[in-house]
Amino acid sequence: MAALDKAQVIGVIGAGAMGAGIAQVAAQAGHSVKLYDNREGAAAVAIELVQKQLNRLVERKKFTAEQVKAILSNLQVAETLGEVSQAGLVVEAIVENVDVKQTVFSELEAICSPECIFASNTSSISITRLSAGMLHPERFVGMHFFNPAPIMKLVEVVSGLVTREDVAQTTYETAAAWGKMPVYAASTPGFIVNRVARPFYAESLRLKQEQVADCATLDALIRHAGGFRMGAFELTDLIGHDVNYAVTCSVFDSYYGDFRFQPSLLQKDLVDAGYLGRKTGAGFYSYKEGAIKPEP
Ligand code: NAI
Repeated sequence: MAALDKAQVIGVIGAGAMGAGIAQVAAQAGHSVKLYDNREGAAAVAIELVQKQLNRLVERKKFTAEQVKAILSNLQVAETLGEVSQAGLVVEAIVENVDVKQTVFSELEAICSPECIFASNTSSISITRLSAGMLHPERFVGMHFFNPAPIMKLVEVVSGLVTREDVAQTTYETAAAWGKMPVYAASTPGFIVNRVARPFYAESLRLKQEQVADCATLDALIRHAGGFRMGAFELTDLIGHDVNYAVTCSVFDSYYGDFRFQPSLLQKDLVDAGYLGRKTGAGFYSYKEGAIKPEP
């Protein structure tokens, strides 16, 4: 099974951290990309951010100015969901909530062609469950990128119970053609990486709650002694606590309350306070005025 043809339009729904990155990846691969977000102006802001990042890469000689111009010309704001109707593949990267995602997919099903592949970037929600209620659930697949999408190679291609094999294969080959390292996974809660990662976050949060050491010490230890690229506190600040907490709740519920996946009250407090991490300027650390220091 071949990758999607470059002439196929890619629709990306949600222009947050992940949607913007996925749109950039597809545009870099030569597709025309329509980026839609239901928050007014969000898609345009996301494209401006992509532009800034690409310009930095020109300064570092990773891209030429001409290449960046071509990538940016591939990226367009979709003012309405209807503008993604021509897409051959739609990748959804909106809030981690079953009902909201299902609503978007039923709207998409009404406007897109029957051949269009519907993919969700969900971190944890069952692909089988998300596709339930669709007229054609067999063309629904998980296409799970990692943050930041333009840099991280791994993409989990997740099949639900009724996902057609050729749909998963085309998604896999497309991710590979986009320069990614795809892996097939069956649709279990958290798939592969997010399932393994849950106890990593949970145990780190428990250490912090028990005041064993502060975030900076725990992160440094995990990095230096454990060989991880980031500790749990800096990583969840990057992911966003709203997103990370929602994923933990979803995995916990899906495993019928298995203690290993229990969400942390400490993280819930951060979400309630709006301390969502880098994107709001503070989480476990403060990112205000260029400072990266633990929050008091
Ligand atoms: P985010 O909060 O940065 O962005 C979500 C965007 O979706 C927002 O701009 C919001 O306005 C938009 N949105 C919400 N509802 C919408 C709707 N009905 N229609 C159109 N747009 C809508 O979230 P982020 O971090 O980009 O995550 C998005 C998805 O990707 C989630 O399912 C998350 O679990 C998954 N994911 C997140 C990763 C991360 O590290 N942040 C990594 C891999 C997957």
